[in-house]
Amino acid sequence: MSDVLVPIKPKGLLTSLTSFLNRKILRTDRSRWNYQYDKGLWDGLENMEELARFSVLAGYVHFLKPDNPSILEIGCGEGVLAQRIGRQHYGSFLGTDVADAAIEQANSRFGDSKTRFEAVDMNDFQTDEQFDVIIFNEAIYYLKPMLDKLMSQYAPMLRSNGLLIVSMNTGLHADSDAKWEQIEKVFAVVDSTFVETAKNGWKVKILRPLPV
Ligand SMILES: C[S@@+](CC[C@H](N)C(=O)[O-])C[C@H]1O[C@@H](n2cnc3c(N)ncnc32)[C@H](O)[C@@H]1O
Repeated sequence: MSDVLVPIKPKGLLTSLTSFLNRKILRTDRSRWNYQYDKGLWDGLENMEELARFSVLAGYVHFLKPDNPSILEIGCGEGVLAQRIGRQHYGSFLGTDVADAAIEQANSRFGDSKTRFEAVDMNDFQTDEQFDVIIFNEAIYYLKPMLDKLMSQYAPMLRSNGLLIVSMNTGLHADSDAKWEQIEKVFAVVDSTFVETAKNGWKVKILRPLPV
């Protein structure tokens, strides 16, 4: 027997098989995102390459809602946006994400009496709470069907004068223009900007529900 052969460890093999099955065959959103966060594939969100996008979102929140707003962020990952906004700038922050691995990190790093993070699929999330700001930062792609859910599930969570903030990458998601068109049928654009870095471009829009 060649001495370079590595013995198969049944336990390791089982773990790998389960992980492979979860990611490639069962492909639940939760297991796929958990895998990516566990592997550190999203660690880059805290880097300078992403700073401009987060800073623009944080700047809008500071400027438009200066009085301790209640904020809901959908698809919050490990809580980078809460950190960039800064806890002194909000009354409460609820971040949600389908990936328990990301939520665990977010809670241990930024959770406090007014900052909490919950693992929940955005397509199922329900609450009686209302918010001054609801944010989908690179996350609205996963809301399906997007417009129906925005209107029936999320618009009722906005306080009167509440704002929806959405960012979408212009290069990575080919259908983002079509999505903006849909959104703007039911939301008025309060302001809109384009964030461009050496590697990426994102449209960020501040939206208010149109009267029905
Ligand atoms: C591209 S990352 C963006 C993370 C962060 N908001 C940012 O801007 O850098 C997309 C995030 O959406 C989350 N996500 C994907 N599908 C989801 C779903 N169905 N419900 C809730 N979160 C979801 C992922 O776990 C991930 O954290």
